[in-house]
Amino acid sequence: MPTFTADQIHAIAHRILVAVGTSAENAEVVASELRDANLAGHDSHGVIRLPQYCEFVADGFVKPDAGFEVVVDRPAFAVVDGQFHFGQVTATKALDIAREKARAMGTGTVFVRNCNHVGRLGSYAEKAARDGFAAQMCVNAPGPGRVVPFGSKQGKMGTNPISMAAPWNGDAMLLDMTSSATAEGKVRVAHQAGKPIPEGWILDADGNPSTNPGDLYGPPLGSILPLGGTMAHKGYGLSVMIDVFGGMLSGSGVCRKDLPRGANGVWMYLVDVEQVLPKDEYDQWMKTYVDDMKSSERLPGVDEILLPGEIERRRRAERLANGVEVADGTWTLLGELAAKLGTNLDNL
Ligand SMILES: NC(=O)c1ccc[n+]([C@@H]2O[C@H](COP(=O)([O-])OP(=O)(O)OC[C@H]3O[C@@H](n4cnc5c(N)ncnc54)[C@H](O)[C@@H]3O)[C@@H](O)[C@H]2O)c1
Repeated sequence: MPTFTADQIHAIAHRILVAVGTSAENAEVVASELRDANLAGHDSHGVIRLPQYCEFVADGFVKPDAGFEVVVDRPAFAVVDGQFHFGQVTATKALDIAREKARAMGTGTVFVRNCNHVGRLGSYAEKAARDGFAAQMCVNAPGPGRVVPFGSKQGKMGTNPISMAAPWNGDAMLLDMTSSATAEGKVRVAHQAGKPIPEGWILDADGNPSTNPGDLYGPPLGSILPLGGTMAHKGYGLSVMIDVFGGMLSGSGVCRKDLPRGANGVWMYLVDVEQVLPKDEYDQWMKTYVDDMKSSERLPGVDEILLPGEIERRRRAERLANGVEVADGTWTLLGELAAKLGTNLDNL
């Protein structure tokens, strides 16, 4: 497997994105998000996405020359329209607006409609937390999805992620998770590797539990379960509310068969922590809390109690030091894609 530095991962993405018609400035934003997902260990949201993104551009689903419209602008909230630009470009602009409003008003809310795939949702919440905000965000996928409503065997909903972050120790405490039992990308990775998946992730087309990732892709198509195992009504409920906040309130829509693949609705909510309580007091509360969590009695085989986001933080440090491995199959695909677009991945 080839290994790349963070800069090389960025260069791979930037070169391909420019070749597909993205401005250098916007390619910088998308490439940085893909690189950061790889660094955080979420390879399913890193450069592996480039073939899919270029397909979306070719099909007209992603519009690299689209505009950005502020549809509603109030002191503490806004509704914006991404007009199907790259989701990373739109979400970055939306986050800037949310930050500005939260700084001015204490809280800032932004709804984003017609947004494409934003990538790793936690990235935006994490950035906000590093700037002193507590942040909550969610993304819905209004088109026909793969996740079943609780009690059904018919895939309908998106994997609808939610992300919450807060300042912690000069960085971010970050929860970033799907409301489904698994991200679709993890099933795809197992499928390509010919490996079984854990029980409780998917159903086959007849609604039977399956550990064969191929059953998701069919034909006939299987489906993904909501998060929660025997208590999956909770993951399902969370996903429904993400459809309401991300899809309905943003105006992006839900249950729409007319929307392009990848069309998302986003909700971002920021609180300026220092306007709620003094920074020293907040930092002390966080320290006391984290120390208490970490000192919990551990089960056999558990080395450490971790806080949300710690795994990603450690992977980032490890990958910055040792590089990011890209699977052979992915590297071949990226080379072919570059050649098709009239560029190459030499001398990165
Ligand atoms: N843009 C989209 O439409 C979309 C859709 C689905 C998923 N995603 C992204 O996919 C990524 C993967 O999601 P996921 O649900 O598979 O993530 P995951 O299951 O790997 O992690 C979920 C959360 O659990 C935390 N965690 C993991 N192990 C832990 C431990 N031992 N102790 C404490 N906390 C721990 C992580 O820090 C993270 O916050 C996310 O970045 C998400 O934003 C994006």
